[in-house]
Amino acid sequence: MRRLKLYQLFVSIPIILILLAGCSGKATSTFIVVPPTTVVPEPSATPDIKANRGAPGIGDSLYPNFGNGGYDVQHYTLDLTVNNVATSDLDGITTIKARATQNLGSFNLDFIGFEITNIIVNGQPADFRRSGQELTITPSTALSENESFTVEVQYQGSPVKRSSAALPIQTGWVTFEGGSFVLSEPDGAASFYPVNDHPLDKASYTFRVIVPEPFEVAANGVLTETIDNGITTTFLFEAREPMASYLATVNIDEFDLETSQAENGIPIRNYYSTGLPEDIHKPFERQDEMLVYFSDIFGPYPFEVYGALVMDTDFGAALETQTMSIFGMDMIDTNHMEDTQQVIAHELAHQWFGDSVSLADWRDIWLNESFATYAQGLWIEHTEGREALDEWIKRLYAFVLENREHMSPPGEPPADELFNPGVYYWGALGLHALRLEVSDEVFLQILKTYHEEYKGSNATTADFINVAEEVSGKELSAFFDSWLYSKDLAPIPALGLEAK
Ligand code: TRP
Ligand code: ZN
Repeated sequence: MRRLKLYQLFVSIPIILILLAGCSGKATSTFIVVPPTTVVPEPSATPDIKANRGAPGIGDSLYPNFGNGGYDVQHYTLDLTVNNVATSDLDGITTIKARATQNLGSFNLDFIGFEITNIIVNGQPADFRRSGQELTITPSTALSENESFTVEVQYQGSPVKRSSAALPIQTGWVTFEGGSFVLSEPDGAASFYPVNDHPLDKASYTFRVIVPEPFEVAANGVLTETIDNGITTTFLFEAREPMASYLATVNIDEFDLETSQAENGIPIRNYYSTGLPEDIHKPFERQDEMLVYFSDIFGPYPFEVYGALVMDTDFGAALETQTMSIFGMDMIDTNHMEDTQQVIAHELAHQWFGDSVSLADWRDIWLNESFATYAQGLWIEHTEGREALDEWIKRLYAFVLENREHMSPPGEPPADELFNPGVYYWGALGLHALRLEVSDEVFLQILKTYHEEYKGSNATTADFINVAEEVSGKELSAFFDSWLYSKDLAPIPALGLEAK
């Protein structure tokens, strides 16, 4: 418990839950760091071109079965009619617009639970079979390479509870007393819609959700229509910018809505579950300012709208769901304003690093978490000055040293503890070390260039290193090796920091 307090004081809260899990006997003893060379890609990840079968995995090095191969999705339309909010019993139709990247006699989607009542491909009924989360669809007419096609999957039932392969919590659609919410990183999306579930295949989304009165819906993007049907209400949201599947979120409750506009013109809408304490919105008062500051240093905010959603339930985490980050009520502590603002800054920074620039492989998760964590330090520097940042870095360094056994080197997360604190704090220290290596100005130019080059798309660790080397004119491979893959925490001599 002491460790938790210490942790809470110094650094953002999002990962408390994971750190705690790391402290429990079982998780600690099974904490294994898998060196990249030992991972043999599963044959399933290679497209079976001869048989014209789409692959059941997209080729992720940590999770060979995540996503699918053989096609590329452009757009998802989720039509969800929620009959009963208490059980999340629903009728769903997911319509997918995609393009075949090879000839396809059959292809896979990821989908968990529900009864599938019908699947239609290009207007014709299609055959399908299910095995685990793999849904294999055989269209009545095979698809040819480059062909655009439409898949409509009709289903009904309640989402099944599902714990993640990557961290010890339930991901996906969660029903709680009073409503439901969706947190899917990395593998929960398939719990409520059929999907090519990997950030490599980003797409735009339409959400059409019908809920009984008086419930309301908050989803990604812009609310374009609200239709009063009498005893139910239809909410229509458009998320027009490409989005990774794990960032799709549909939340049902009653909400108080707070709208504003940041100084750079970005509209903000914050949703607070009705009935939360009055002062719940207080820590968000500087969110507009954060948005302007991060837009200045990282490059223009990449989406058309932003905001936060605070759910009236405890889930010990916050998630950077695109255009609308989600916070469990237990993430908001109005007695510790600055700590809470750290979490708010963290999720906002993810909109650039994680959401706009997405991973190509889950092993590179430090590209999301270390960047969002370092952004907390940048916010501290912006509001309290460089000395405060240096102090924060020193405490972080001590924290990483003290908790080394619960962390993997940032570039080598184990598959079953993807979000271990190494990919947050150790990696954030590495970014600070990079800054000291190349100068403040060059460092910020690296971040800006990296976002500019990969916004709306995907990047790898090698891509980031290339940008860093090009912008700085320095050879940095030894530097990144020591910060991403070494078992020992590298020193930061300028701050007198070294592992003893
Ligand atoms: N990305 C989250 C963060 O900002 C952490 C996280 C990963 C998470 N998977 C999750 C949070 C699932 C909630 C649910 O640190
Ligand atoms: Zn994060």
